[in-house]
Amino acid sequence: MTPSEKIVNIEEKLNNWLREALVRAFPESTADADTIAVTPATDEQFGDYQCNAAMGLARVLKTNPRQIATQWVDAVEPADWVEQIDVAGPGFINIRVAAAALADGLMAMDEDARLCTPETGRDRTVILDYSSPNVAKPMHIGHIRSTVIGCALDRLHRFLGFRVIADNHLGDWGTQFGLLIMGYRHFLDETRLREQPVEELERLYVKSYERSREDPDWLDAARRELVKLQQGDADNRALWQSFVDLSMREFNRIYDRLGVSFDVVRGESYYRDQLAAVVQLLQAQGLAEESEGAQVVRLDDEGIPLCIVQKSDGGFNYATSDLATIKQRMEEFDTEQIIYVTDERQQLHFKQCFAIARKLGWTAQLVHVWFGLMRLPEGTFSTREGNVIKLERLLDEAEERALRLVQASSPEMDAADQRAVARAVGIGAIKYADLSQNPQSMITFTWDKALAMDGNSAPYLQYACARIASVQDKYQARYSGQDCRAYPIELTEVVERRLALRLLRFPSAVNRATALLRPSVLADYLYELAQTYSSFYQNVPFLKAPEGVRESRIRLCGLVARVLRQGLDLLGIETPGRI
Ligand code: ARG
Repeated sequence: MTPSEKIVNIEEKLNNWLREALVRAFPESTADADTIAVTPATDEQFGDYQCNAAMGLARVLKTNPRQIATQWVDAVEPADWVEQIDVAGPGFINIRVAAAALADGLMAMDEDARLCTPETGRDRTVILDYSSPNVAKPMHIGHIRSTVIGCALDRLHRFLGFRVIADNHLGDWGTQFGLLIMGYRHFLDETRLREQPVEELERLYVKSYERSREDPDWLDAARRELVKLQQGDADNRALWQSFVDLSMREFNRIYDRLGVSFDVVRGESYYRDQLAAVVQLLQAQGLAEESEGAQVVRLDDEGIPLCIVQKSDGGFNYATSDLATIKQRMEEFDTEQIIYVTDERQQLHFKQCFAIARKLGWTAQLVHVWFGLMRLPEGTFSTREGNVIKLERLLDEAEERALRLVQASSPEMDAADQRAVARAVGIGAIKYADLSQNPQSMITFTWDKALAMDGNSAPYLQYACARIASVQDKYQARYSGQDCRAYPIELTEVVERRLALRLLRFPSAVNRATALLRPSVLADYLYELAQTYSSFYQNVPFLKAPEGVRESRIRLCGLVARVLRQGLDLLGIETPGRI
């Protein structure tokens, strides 16, 4: 048995215990595990956990909730690890766990590399489609959310044992390349291409596009170039490849800075030869029909607009490409789920694709995680061109600001170390500002909030870890050779108990963040843990406490640091040893 299996995940243990009692008291109830799951008590006076399931069961069992709760509680197996269980109000069940059981749970966590988080995703495959920028366009701040949220979801799933395929689905195919090739052949500025290749490609495209609006011959020529590219013309293919390579070089630079990597980088172009077959399949199944020369799939039954899968000129659409992609992914990776992370503007697109996939009988679970766009208060960023804030400049600015912070807090640190710490703090701040929000709310980014040392920010959490490290160092210096783990964890003070309950909630925070596809659930948990730690730290003595109590507290500190580090790591955020 591995330690994770042995444990003592308190919430799980409570849930099982309550379920058994419910079955005994009401064999006819068919409540599922989720419905009866305990939640942390809203008021610690009443207990550690509460279960509100009796209210819901009342309808099914046609009995009043208070009576259900009472019979239920009467049916529980006596357990020495539960200090108190009682019924309150209309039928709430309140539970207080014995301090010794909490301490056992913490010691099990302390001995387990995974902090007692079960690998619930073992043998399951999930594909994460995120970042996915477009070739020949600079990545801008809107893309950061997909990359940062996608990366956190990726790490969370991997930690839970899922087999994750991270796929960067580049926008590297489509009608824009005809115009871009024309722009490149006629307006290229070699110097600019060398200095700022992707910006230059974008300029060329825009120029060519503008020209096409007033010059039909230009548009025709662009169409011809596109057809040549699609038919495999060597010159156009080489040019296209160079656009992809130049863009990838820039994207990779950003991925390096963000610490993001992919298992598969397949652009839309990868599926280009599979598009006709998708349309044929849809026709064969009676799902696609002709309308004004185009092939469309009607989705009236889903209450959404029809989807054009082939245009009247024979060209295929974004949706066709995504359908081919789903088919390929299901066949190649035998995946259970595909998760897409993009901004809110693609909601209809994915609704249409998912509806068509369902009609085709494709079984993979398809999920769109969308996010609102990030708003920037006027004047926040020093470098701006129109509304497009270049991602690299944003990262530069984050590191510069973090460097000033580190120089102020650790003036004695040598310059290279300061820069390394500033990198972790600056990039962490940007990521956390994004991840700590509900992705679907519109967020306004401010430097003050992102870099706040005393608020819900990455620097605050990173700093908490660093502070704990220095407490541990002091302990080591004073009691060198002493092994805290030789002493048991004991919870005597109220703040210790509070801290214990928070720590023990780590596995469920990770599970919930993953199941809900919301990294903010984990971020909230980490922030609360850091706050609880801070009141613990301020209210009880550590090094001055008597032997045994001292060691127990140092062990608690160590666990807090491990949970914070592990949690931040799952969000893709580094924790420097010192700040
Ligand atoms: N390239 C698209 C964009 O930048 C995002 C692609 C998302 N993934 C997908 N399979 N459609 O908006």
